[in-house]
This record gives sequence, C-alpha cells and structure tokens, in this order.
Amino acid sequence: EKGGYDYFMLKEIAEQPKAVADTLLGRIDEAGNLTLDEVRISAAELREMDKIVIVACGTAFHAGLIAKYAIEHWTRIPCEVELASEFRYRDPILDAQTLVIAISQSGETMDTLMALRHAREQGSRVLAICNTNGSTIPRESDAVLYTHAGPEIAVASTKAFLTQLVACYLVALYLGQVRGTKWGDEVQAVIRDLSRISGAVERVLETMEPVRKLARSLADKNTVLFLGRHVGYPVALEGALKLKELAYMHAEGFAAGELKHGPIALIEEDLPVVVVVPSPRGRSVLHDKIVSNIQEIRARGARTIVIAEEGDEAVVPYADHLIRIPATPTLLQPLVATVPLQVFACELATARGNEVDQPRNLAKSVTVE
Ligand code: F6R
Repeated sequence: EKGGYDYFMLKEIAEQPKAVADTLLGRIDEAGNLTLDEVRISAAELREMDKIVIVACGTAFHAGLIAKYAIEHWTRIPCEVELASEFRYRDPILDAQTLVIAISQSGETMDTLMALRHAREQGSRVLAICNTNGSTIPRESDAVLYTHAGPEIAVASTKAFLTQLVACYLVALYLGQVRGTKWGDEVQAVIRDLSRISGAVERVLETMEPVRKLARSLADKNTVLFLGRHVGYPVALEGALKLKELAYMHAEGFAAGELKHGPIALIEEDLPVVVVVPSPRGRSVLHDKIVSNIQEIRARGARTIVIAEEGDEAVVPYADHLIRIPATPTLLQPLVATVPLQVFACELATARGNEVDQPRNLAKSVTVE
C-alpha cells in the first residue's frame, strides 16, 4: 500500500506532480478560461464581494498565507488570513459581502469548522477548499472546490498543501475572471504557467539526493532557522513546521526583512539557516535584499542552506549548501520551493530515528477545539 516506499510521507511527496496536475484537470475549458462550475456561488454574487477572509490551521494556514499574495494581486480584493482557532474569538467583521475561504485537507478540523459556522451566522458565504469528499467542512459550506490530491495518510501534510495552493490560485484567477480585473485577461497565461508546474515539481524530486545527504549531516543539531520573503515567507514557516513535527527539532520561520529587528541575535557559529530566495527576475529588489541577508548571517558564522532558482548566480558565493529549483513566476514559486523542505524534514526525522508517518502527540485530523 506504500507503493514500494518506506513511508507514506515519501510516497505522498512523490505523488505531488500528479496531485498538482489532477487539481487543474477539468477546470479549464478549450478557450483557456476557468470553469469552476462546482463553486455554486454565482458570478454576480462574487462580483459583490469586497473582502476575502481565509481561515485554516497548520499547513493549510500556510497555504492561505501564500494565497493572500495571489488573491490580492490578481483580484485587488483585500484578503485577510487568520488562524481558525483565533478567528471567532475576536468578533471579526463579517457580512454578506465577505467571502470566507476555509482550507482543510481532512474537512474535519474542529477549529476550522467552528470558524466557518461563525462566518455563516454573520451572513458571509463560505467556500471550502478541501481534499476529502463529503466531509463536514464542505457539507457545511456554501460551496466547495475539491483538491484532488488523493488520500493523504501520513500525518504531515505534503501533497495536500501543494494542491491547496493550486486550488487557491484557481479561485483567485476565477475571481479575477468574473470581476474583469486586468488579471482576468491574463488568466490563460497564468494557467499555462500553472500547467507547467507539475513538470517542475517532478524535476525538483529528481534532484533531492544532496538534500537528503545534507539533512542526515544535521541530525545532531538542535535548531534550524528558515528565512523567506514575499511568498517565500510562508514557505519558510512551512519548512519550520515540518521540521518541528517530524524531527522534533526547534525550528522557526522568519520574514527575512525582520532579521534585523531581532532574530539576527540568534545567529551563531554553525547554526543551519535555510533561506528561500525569490526569483532574481520579477521582484529583483527583494532578491537583492535577501542576498544581503544571506551575506549578513554568513558573516556571523551561520551555515547557509540556500534554495534558489536555477541560473541565480548571485547567491553562489554565500551558500554553504545550494539547492536549485526551476525558475517559475514569482507567485508560483512556493509550489517548487516547498518540496525540498518536505524532503529535508522527512530525512532528518528518519536520521533521528523518529516515526515519520505518525509523529508523537499528533493526529491526522484534529476534531477537538
Ligand atoms: C502539518 C499538518 C497540520 C494540518 C492542520 C490542518 O503537516 O498536517 O498542521 O495541516 O492540522 O488540518 P486540515 O487541513 O485537515 O484542516
């Protein structure tokens, strides 16, 4: 049942190219337009929405943080992302013009369910992004867009995360399309980029041996830090979460721009710091800033593990370890940049003798608040 892999997690990491492709399947018509018929909220209603609120937990929350960048960029609708467990306790501002998006792999997470119930009580429409057919969260939502990752057995979420991102991008593009933003016209180009991502993930998976070797060499470390910027920031948070839950190591993700506001004090000799580098094309200002961050932390003795696009030569002098990922449009980079972090955490867990598929103290679906 593990398809020849030692762990479900390895199998599920390997299934990601297919999971990503399957989540796009059937949702684009011949003209290249999105046809999200399953989203039973009418185009007229979607045009009325003036705010989007994403609620989710854990890894799904990180997908939401990334989605915010895409949603605001492509739709120009303000988007908030909130931990489902915090949401209803702070009297959030919600009304019929608020579209709430609840992201959940299992569809049974109690915190997320309670958040969406609260939103519906306030008159908001709820769209679920979910991986489990007929589960509670989609049943209680106004509409659902299913991710087609297939069953995810390992407790640590991998392929569900990538498909949550794809689903969020589809929703963002669809909103752009029905609202006629300038991105509505570029849907086809972005869809073309999205269709190529499955192949890019495949290529990343083929080059993971050095990442495994690196992970094994760090098995006796206590702490690993993760830095990112823009959409790379939630990727850093996700890399840290994976390491905590699987390797039981202290791991923290930071926005690279925050380094000088505190975390740089943590940098010491030989501390492993993973840095997710934005594309040098596109938002090159951010790229240059993060390259100076890498320089700064390396000057203080950190062991820099740099995840950078193929062809990005600026990072080479400052990378103790360089992990290459294929070039993608900026907003889509998390789909490839997360993969090495999953492999890294999985291998470190194995090296430390931990149970990969069933980390201590964790359950696959958290049905209590
Ligand atoms: C992390 C992980 C958890 C879940 C979270 C939400 O690897 O698996 O953080 O992402 O418990 O679960 P769902 O998506 O089922 O609502």
